[in-house]
This record gives sequence, C-alpha cells and structure tokens, in this order.
Amino acid sequence: MLITIPDVLTTEQVAEAREILDNAEWVDGRVTAGHQSAMAKDNLQIPEGHPAAKQVGNLILQALGQNPLFLSAALPLRIFPPLFNKYSGGQSFGTHVDNAIRQFPGSSMRIRTDLSATLFFEEPENYDGGELCVEDTYGVHQVKLPAGSMVLYPSTSLHHVKPVTRGARLCSFFWMQSMLRDDGQRSLMFDLDLAIQRLGNELPENDVANKTAVQLTGVYHNLLRQWAEM
Ligand code: NI
Repeated sequence: MLITIPDVLTTEQVAEAREILDNAEWVDGRVTAGHQSAMAKDNLQIPEGHPAAKQVGNLILQALGQNPLFLSAALPLRIFPPLFNKYSGGQSFGTHVDNAIRQFPGSSMRIRTDLSATLFFEEPENYDGGELCVEDTYGVHQVKLPAGSMVLYPSTSLHHVKPVTRGARLCSFFWMQSMLRDDGQRSLMFDLDLAIQRLGNELPENDVANKTAVQLTGVYHNLLRQWAEM
C-alpha cells in the first residue's frame, strides 16, 4: 500500500525547517548507501546526527506522533531518525531496494525497515523532475508532493528518483518498523479503521450503527492483539 499523508507539516513549519536545512552542511549521499545502491545514488545529504538533521527530524517525529492518518496507516513501532537529501543539476537515484535492517546512529538499537517515507520540502513547481517512482505489482507510481506532505510505501518495493533537471529537490527520508510486518495485514487494518471512523461519523444517532461500530472496534483491537509484534 502506497499512501499520501497531506500536510504533515504546516507552511510555517516548512519555512522554519528550510531556514535550518538551507544553512546546514551537505555531503555526498553515498555515505548511507549499501554497496549496490551506492552505484545508483547521486545526491547530497546532511550527515547523520548533524544538529540540523536532529532539530528538523524532531519536528517531523513530533508532527507524525499527532497525525491520525499516519498512525493508522503505519502502526509504527520504531521510527529511524529522519535523514535529508537534495538533488539538483541532473542528480538522480537509480532503481534500488532499501536495506532491510538499519542500526540507529550511535546506538545498538536496530530496526527492520517495513515502511519507507519521503517528506517533501520544496514546492513541485520550483523544480523539474525528481519524481519518486515506486514499483509494485500494480505498476509504477510517480510521486511528487507539495512541501510539507509525505508519502509512505512498503520498503520491499523497488524505487528510484528521476533526474532533477531544474531547481533543487529537498526531502526528508526515513524508515520505520511497524507493529505489523506484513503489508497485507497493515492495509486490512487501515481499511477497517477507516470504515469504523466513517460509521461513527455518519450515524451518531443510529443505535444499530453505534453498536456495529463498537463491535468492529473490538474486531480491530483483537486482530491487532493477534498480529502485533513489539
Ligand atoms: Ni531508497
């Protein structure tokens, strides 16, 4: 399941983040790439653990922690500290798959990467190219979102970033381990959650609808109890 989470950050938060990111140190992006993806990767990154990355990363994590759509779609267990990349002057990232396991910087903690996220920090009209292309069994999905919006997709997918031929593409990217490893289970729980919410919103006066919503909420939590890994 590939899902767009609109307005993770407000316009003011994007501006605040840009102020910090534009003045940060940028290095060759191959530092976080595995052997194979290093050959495909051509971009700039802020070094892991850099104060600017930490500061804006915390802003992102705080916003995500209060975002119901994100929490329902991802059911996150652990989120990797957000990283930042920049593409310009024809830079791109060829087709690759993200590493399955990531170690937290300066710690022995590791996560299994179930979901990958890209949060955009530049408005789409300010640069050409730079689409994130995610391949799944339904084809190739091209993603280029407004500043402050984010895409979430299974880390199992092959993906690439098209060359940026005008302007610069600035994004945050990171991974997370979900309480549900399986994308199919996660999609099912997301659908169930949306249906329960719709039922609750549409028929607050209807006794049958209310009882049904309560019963389905029970099903939701009991499925989570059966499937969740912590
Ligand atoms: Ni990737």
